[in-house]
Amino acid sequence: MTRHTLSLSIWLLACAPAEAPTTAPDPCTDCLYGEVELDPALLAAEMDKADGDPCAAYPGGPLRADSLLVLLNRDEGQQLAEDAQPPDLVPIDPVLMVAGRQGLARAHVRAAYRALADAALAEEGFDFKVRSAYRSYQTQCFTFDYWVRVKGLAHASRYSAQPGRSQHQLGTTLDVTCEAWSWDLVPEVGQTPEAAWLFENAWRFGFTLSYPEGAESITGYGYEPWHFRYIGVEAAAEMHEAELIQERYLRACQAQDPTLSCPEELIAPLTPNFEFIGAPCGSDADCVGAGEGAVCLTDRPGGMCSKPCTRLCPDQEGASGTFCVADAVEVDATPATTGLCHGRCDHDLYGESGCREGYACVVGQRPSEGGAGAVCLPL
Ligand code: DAL
Ligand code: ZN
Repeated sequence: MTRHTLSLSIWLLACAPAEAPTTAPDPCTDCLYGEVELDPALLAAEMDKADGDPCAAYPGGPLRADSLLVLLNRDEGQQLAEDAQPPDLVPIDPVLMVAGRQGLARAHVRAAYRALADAALAEEGFDFKVRSAYRSYQTQCFTFDYWVRVKGLAHASRYSAQPGRSQHQLGTTLDVTCEAWSWDLVPEVGQTPEAAWLFENAWRFGFTLSYPEGAESITGYGYEPWHFRYIGVEAAAEMHEAELIQERYLRACQAQDPTLSCPEELIAPLTPNFEFIGAPCGSDADCVGAGEGAVCLTDRPGGMCSKPCTRLCPDQEGASGTFCVADAVEVDATPATTGLCHGRCDHDLYGESGCREGYACVVGQRPSEGGAGAVCLPL
């Protein structure tokens, strides 16, 4: 049993209501839990045993998940569509996650979080990890439904967003924790030096606290000192400068407040094979999220994750965006049989060079079965 499952079980034993869920005021007011993040194993079990579709009760809203400044709250119409999914979700490096957990985030959010985590470690020795990241509409249905059944609607609603209203569906929101917090997400962690650092510095990396202390009447949610949403570096700086909480800032942006510029950060579309080539890495561990067997080519500038292949790239078979390049064309007159996946040159995307900065378009040989492809390799 993991520490999280254990702490959840203890909490359930201590705080589970004796009767069926009710919408009456929650008797468990001093029960310490904040974000109602289910342990993934418990969530999977919930989804397995479901005899109905909890999403059926929630038809979804009109909003899409691609804007960094979209306002999600309890208001009419401020809700994501059921199929709203960010366009560029990527796995968060396992070294950035709480042990045993996996998570997805938008690619540039992952990069911003890497920068935040590196700075926290370098500046204060704080080693933050992500406990929860992207949650689909469907996952949120089961999560919310679970807590309604366990805690009652009134209490669950204070800490868990209804499907379509969770910022986690944006792929830009991360729940962070650290060992000093026992890897927990409880309001008390807000008193720690680690939380103080996050409150003071997260905006430098584009992250903002969504549900601050004492703001429940504004945000509609209880205090969550671990829940940070990326809104873009410039927007976060403007929000910080204006001394606004996120809900007020995003509301003002939606209302086109003339005193704010509400910069919407431009997000470059993911390059083809983003996970194959160029994903920054310092060691193979950083590439685990890039797929099975992915390795870090540390002799390349800035590191480079790539996947092994024998002829075709494993998860892109038949796709035109990748090409398996032999490790060596011949070894002792025997054609090479293994290689690594690389992105093909793309002149539509990158014009004459065909590759993004730092890469050059060269002809690579496929292992054994022959064939040559124009691929991007680091300069
Ligand atoms: N805990 C926040 C409100 C969510 O469920 O997104
Ligand atoms: Zn959260």
